[in-house]
Amino acid sequence: MLPENATQAKRINKPEPPKSHLRPPLKWAGGKRWIVRHLEPLWRKSGSNRLIEPLCGGLAVALGLNPHSALLNDINCHLINFYRWLKKGFVIQLEMENNPDLYYAYRERFNQLITSGNSESAEAASLFYYLNRTGYNGLCRFNKKGFFNVPYGRYKKINYRYDFADYRDLFLNWEFRTLDFEKLTPTLNDFTYADPPYDVQFTSYTAQGFSWEDQIRFARWLAQLKGPVVVSNQATARIIELYGELGFNLRLFKGPRMISRDGNRTPALEMFATLNI
Ligand SMILES: C[S@@+](CC[C@H](N)C(=O)[O-])C[C@H]1O[C@@H](n2cnc3c(N)ncnc32)[C@H](O)[C@@H]1O
Repeated sequence: MLPENATQAKRINKPEPPKSHLRPPLKWAGGKRWIVRHLEPLWRKSGSNRLIEPLCGGLAVALGLNPHSALLNDINCHLINFYRWLKKGFVIQLEMENNPDLYYAYRERFNQLITSGNSESAEAASLFYYLNRTGYNGLCRFNKKGFFNVPYGRYKKINYRYDFADYRDLFLNWEFRTLDFEKLTPTLNDFTYADPPYDVQFTSYTAQGFSWEDQIRFARWLAQLKGPVVVSNQATARIIELYGELGFNLRLFKGPRMISRDGNRTPALEMFATLNI
């Protein structure tokens, strides 16, 4: 184990690496691009070697911070399969067109690949991208059997991307895993940014969903980490209580999402909690 002062010595401000010009390649519910400007000073100040995102979703934060080294995890195996193909320099060969007949044919083919155990193939990654761009609201929803069941999206125009080769260099030192977050073991020198599904918003990213018990399990898992931790979530009363009781430092601010209350639209309150920072 490192002596206390050795840790301190490592935590010096880092020079800023060049910004990535690459945008998140998929649409993903709960994208946190807007949080990067709040996170960036903490990440720089920490002097940490590696960014850990136990629930990386659409990669808005990793692409915003652009770390040299990262461990990016998400339980959604189709999402991680897509990123693993991008790491190899992916070019989609599939014909892509915005029409409902093709959408439902491709959705069926994608589900067949799941049934036949071929969900890690390049074809599955291509279909996943197409379904993400063409389906309703970019949702990623699965039924209890694990089959993708999002309806056609009815967009007027979609610009499909075929060539993802640009992501290969950026992803060189980024490791992608598809585990339940509890199986990860961040070290003292890892900076963990965590963005669980919102407490109240219904978002079924996986067949299992994310229950209140998962919120508690997740907060407790974060609380025992030794390195710097930042977590964001919707600031509901029980979320504030949960993180407060576990010893996190809390900040609340108005986020970009709006909620309707008696016909008025007010900004949703976000919680930004830190530990070991
Ligand atoms: C709010 S999203 C993260 C969004 C991300 N920060 C972004 O900017 O796009 C939450 C993610 O948690 C993942 N997830 C849900 N349960 C999980 C679990 N038990 N272990 C790991 N990931 C999980 C979901 O698949 C989803 O992608």
